[in-house]
Amino acid sequence: MATEKKTIFSPELAARFDKLVTLYPMRRSALVPMLLYAQDEVGYISKEVVAEVAERLGLRENDVESVLSYYSMLRTKPAGKYNVQVCTNISCMLRDGYGILEHCKKRLGIDHKEVTADGLFSLEEVECIGACCWAPAIQVNYDFYDELTPEKMDQILDDYKAGRGKETV
Ligand code: FES
Repeated sequence: MATEKKTIFSPELAARFDKLVTLYPMRRSALVPMLLYAQDEVGYISKEVVAEVAERLGLRENDVESVLSYYSMLRTKPAGKYNVQVCTNISCMLRDGYGILEHCKKRLGIDHKEVTADGLFSLEEVECIGACCWAPAIQVNYDFYDELTPEKMDQILDDYKAGRGKETV
C-alpha cells in the first residue's frame, strides 16, 4: 500500500514540486523556482520550508539557507499583505528612486524590510525590476507602477489601503 508523503504544502503545490524536480537534468536546479513558489504559498521561507525543500532536492538545509542570503526576493520573515518594492538601481536612482523610497518610508512609518503594525504593507529597496525606461518604478506584489512621483505614490498606497489596488479589483 502506497503511503502518503508528508508535506507542509498544499496538495497542488506538492504535486507541482514532484513534477518540477523531473524537469531539470540536476535536481538542485529546481531550488530557486521551488523557493519562490513556496514563498507565494506560505508567505515567506520558514524553517519548515527550508527543511522540506532540502529533503525534496536531496540537499543539506545549509545549502538552501545559503541561497536565501543571495537572492533578495526571498524572504525569511512574513511580509505585509502588500509588499512594496522600490527600485533604486541606476535608472530609477537618476530619476528620484531614492526620493520615492524615502517618501514611502515616511508615509508608511517603516524602514527597509519592515512591516506596518496592521500587517497591510511591507517595504523593500530592491535592484532593477526591469522597468528602467519608465523609471522610477516600483512593484507591489506582482503589479508594476512606473513614472512615479510622490503624489502618484500616495494615490497607489491609498488605493491599496482602500482595497482598490490592481490585484484587489
Ligand atoms: S533601474 Fe529601476 S527598473 Fe531598472
